[in-house]
Amino acid sequence: MYSDKVMDHFTNPRNVGEIADADGIGEVGNARCGDIMKLWIKVDGDVITDIKFKTFGCGAAIATSSVITEMAIGKSVTEAEQITNQQVAEELHGLPAVKMHCSNLAAEALAAAIEDYRKKAAADSAS
Ligand code: FES
Repeated sequence: MYSDKVMDHFTNPRNVGEIADADGIGEVGNARCGDIMKLWIKVDGDVITDIKFKTFGCGAAIATSSVITEMAIGKSVTEAEQITNQQVAEELHGLPAVKMHCSNLAAEALAAAIEDYRKKAAADSAS
């Protein structure tokens, strides 16, 4: 049912944790199941240099959270916010159709963290 890559990221998730001095934080919930993901980003000169996440959710949610951190580190915030849940699923060599909604959580949490980073950066430059 799940690809080997999904199982790998589920059993050995990358970049789990928190960043104390994060530049952006995103927290989203999946309305369909109640699962929650929180994600922290560090940004240096518009490039995402570090990401950590905590996901209270199903195996597909944990695997997509893990793989999106690998996809986004090293990208500019503009590139990273364009990562779609479809791309996340493709990176994992596919998800079962009933689990596709789980991949929304990762893409939405990353987008929320980038939005938070932009708001903070705008507030800093205004002060
Ligand atoms: Fe909730 Fe997968 S069942 S995110």
